[in-house]
Amino acid sequence: MKITIVAGARPNFIKIAALIREIKMRPEAGLHFRLVHTGQHYDQKLSQIFFEELQIPAPDVNLTVGSGSQAEQTGRIMIEFEKDLIANPTDMVIVVGDVNSTMACTIVAKKLQTKVAHIEAGIRSFDYSMPEEVNRIVTDALADYYFTTSSYANDNLRLSGIDQSRIFFVGNIMIDTLVWAKDRIKKPDVIDTRSLKRNGYYVITLHRPSNVDNVAKLRSILDSIEAGIENSVAVFPVHPRTAKNLDQCSWKSDKIILVDPLSYFEFIYLVQHSAGAITDSGGIQEETTVLGIPCITLRPNTERPETISEGTNELIGDDLQKLVSSLNKIKTGTWKNGRVPALWDGRTAERIVDILTGM
Ligand code: UD1
Repeated sequence: MKITIVAGARPNFIKIAALIREIKMRPEAGLHFRLVHTGQHYDQKLSQIFFEELQIPAPDVNLTVGSGSQAEQTGRIMIEFEKDLIANPTDMVIVVGDVNSTMACTIVAKKLQTKVAHIEAGIRSFDYSMPEEVNRIVTDALADYYFTTSSYANDNLRLSGIDQSRIFFVGNIMIDTLVWAKDRIKKPDVIDTRSLKRNGYYVITLHRPSNVDNVAKLRSILDSIEAGIENSVAVFPVHPRTAKNLDQCSWKSDKIILVDPLSYFEFIYLVQHSAGAITDSGGIQEETTVLGIPCITLRPNTERPETISEGTNELIGDDLQKLVSSLNKIKTGTWKNGRVPALWDGRTAERIVDILTGM
């Protein structure tokens, strides 16, 4: 079977790494893949370093679409991917996650009568103000096969009318890469330069438009974190989207250490040795659950509810008072314990390849 694997943005690279590793380990499965990088993320620190560390082969093509408004970026991906898919027909396009590249390439493939499989299908925040939620809904309305991370995702797909025979509960492929990386993690420089001790600091990541595009809001979040961590410090690897806005308000703090985006091995080291994470990312809610690290999520909702019901995650929405009380819970050691959700076991890619081989 010929498959085309699409990846465009940082979280996609972490997911396709596991799938590609498994395909390469099992040549007898007869899966021949072509890798398309849409170029949605192009900075060395958001893209190239992930290919190097996660041993992802160089893409067969980079569509170099770059940045733009939602419509500009989506449109450019569609225009370029259509040309590529016509020139390189395939039996199946595999898309992962919920970024603009996921949705754009799904639409193109379906209009060219090509089957689409979606890895991480079915999760929903029901928050239509998030571009990712629109991407999830459009992708899942069109896909042919759905690889899911949870029973919640399975239910969402069934409720939207998708036949059970097309839904495959395989677990969380992002965790495959986490399990593989556990022996390879790398201490980031900031640990030594700032003499950070295990459990002696927090990790911050913020990049959602709803938290970072309004400079006043971004400032008030960081001010509250600064107050809440009291005598501790926090390391904040700054996403380019957030960096632009931080530059605008020239925000500075002794307790919040701003660093460039870290590599995957460095970032996992940082989280694993921290007291807790404060984030608005999707993937970090999952990774902290598996690592058993407290996670405070600055969003009113999540498409990954099992990280709350089973894992170490809590949502605090916009409630900055709750942020301070949550940090206090971590400090006093009264944060809840969690468990790892079903099939988040590092063997998801193996199950996907089994299913693809049987098709
Ligand atoms: C995208 C995804 C989001 C994912 C995130 C992870 C969508 C709609 N959003 O958000 O789901 O969680 O990636 O990082 O697909 N930029 C750079 N260098 C880069 C890439 C982007 O400087 O390599 C800048 C762009 O100029 C842009 C901003 O960052 O202004 C946002 O980039 P974009 O790809 O639109 O979305 P993200 O916020 O990264």
